Amino acid sequence: MAITQKMQDALNEHTNQELYSSYLYLSMSSYCESINLPGFAHWLRIQSQEEYAHGMKIFDFINDRDGRAILHPIGQPTIEFESIQDVMQKTLEHERHVSSLINKLYEVAVTENDVATQIHLQWFITEQIEEEKTANDLVEQLKLISGQGDALLLLDRELGARSLDPVE
Ligand code: FEO
Repeated sequence: MAITQKMQDALNEHTNQELYSSYLYLSMSSYCESINLPGFAHWLRIQSQEEYAHGMKIFDFINDRDGRAILHPIGQPTIEFESIQDVMQKTLEHERHVSSLINKLYEVAVTENDVATQIHLQWFITEQIEEEKTANDLVEQLKLISGQGDALLLLDRELGARSLDPVE
């Protein structure tokens, strides 16, 4: 069954949101470089690449369903942050926002009787649990560290070891 126009529009909008996420994390990565936290910068750069892959996962799905993936302009991401705590808090808030967007997308798939999209979105729903958990863990770890330079450098080193997981 070909995708409906309403479902296609909603999915195209979500591709844009994932690509915006990629931009946002790249912007955060640049900020972390500027405050000499290369491990956080690396972690966020990988996060940015993952978000690009999420966008492509929807882009490909639209085309596979005989629809048309349409690219919209990507918004300007936040470029200034107050601190590394601010970066991770904004990451957590952003991931919660993305989770709510995916839930709305799923509602559209239900009202459009689009079972294939519902199944495809299940991957994203599961992924968001992990995304929120990881961001929340880092927010809480930064609270525990609260300005202790040596502990922050240790966490920075740990995050510097992140590698890109394939988005299946
Ligand atoms: Fe693609 Fe971090 O949600």
